[in-house]
Amino acid sequence: MKEVSYTVLENLPLAPRTFRMKLSGDTSAIRGSGEFVQIAVPGKFLRRPISVHDCDFETFTIVYKVVGEGTAALSAMLPGSQVGALTGLGNNFDIDACRARALLLGGGVGAAPLYLLTKELCAQGKEVTVVLGFNKAEEVMLREDFESLGAKVFIATLDGSAGTRGFVTDVLKLKNLCWDYFYACGPKPMLKAVCGAVKGPGELSMEERMGCGAGFCYGCSIMTVSGPRRVCADGPVFKREEIVW
Ligand SMILES: Cc1cc2nc3c(=O)[nH]c(=O)nc-3n(C[C@H](O)[C@H](O)[C@H](O)COP(=O)(O)OP(=O)(O)OC[C@H]3O[C@@H](n4cnc5c(N)ncnc54)[C@H](O)[C@@H]3O)c2cc1C
Ligand code: FES
Repeated sequence: MKEVSYTVLENLPLAPRTFRMKLSGDTSAIRGSGEFVQIAVPGKFLRRPISVHDCDFETFTIVYKVVGEGTAALSAMLPGSQVGALTGLGNNFDIDACRARALLLGGGVGAAPLYLLTKELCAQGKEVTVVLGFNKAEEVMLREDFESLGAKVFIATLDGSAGTRGFVTDVLKLKNLCWDYFYACGPKPMLKAVCGAVKGPGELSMEERMGCGAGFCYGCSIMTVSGPRRVCADGPVFKREEIVW
């Protein structure tokens, strides 16, 4: 874990109430996809956990949705602003668990960490299919970003205004997709539905409200087959068979 001050390079809207922020500074503690950072928001005691969307030697990027005061404050930050963040938090997606064909399922802003995962899987020569779910067409984001990495992308919207009408799991019923391992990130009801519908081995990035974000308060615990485990310190990525719904 490392605490670093970053400079905001860009903070641009991607979709309604959703922004992509690029920060420059020391990224040496970030090891790969699945991890999150804890962003310090001026005037707020608790830092906000946000997944790493992309990362290189000098910059990292987050994609976040404005849901409350903390994320609203982030959205108002201009290029040149300084932001403190704890980096190197959480575990990573297991890219070696996929033999050849990966299925990635993202719900809403849960698509964000799947971008770096796609980069890593494509760099290993694996075939990546991404299924992204949103409420409506105007919320659809990151499609071209995934495609530019070489992934095949399918969209589902609840109102049918883009792609398949329904949930990401409805895309699986209609399209003839092949995979040997899946990865999913999104709201809990979506992850539960994915576990009910998707066959074979896979893993999920779990989201829970966080307090300390460092393993001390147990506020982010979820129930697993080996008892309660902390999303911040033991996750956020868990194998599908570990989760007790
Ligand atoms: C591992 C992890 C990765 C995440 N990655 C992303 C991401 O890439 N993009 C994104 O938009 N959001 C992500 N979230 C959710 C994000 O942390 C919350 O939306 C954000 O903290 C809300 O802050 P707020 O001040 O705007 O909202 P408020 O509701 O005002 O927040 C009040 C408090 O509750 C906490 N809180 C509220 N909602 C959540 C939540 N869903 N998860 C955890 N803590 C919460 C806040 O951190 C804060 O301490 C992630 C959460 C976790 C646990
Ligand atoms: S947030 Fe305190 S233990 Fe995870």
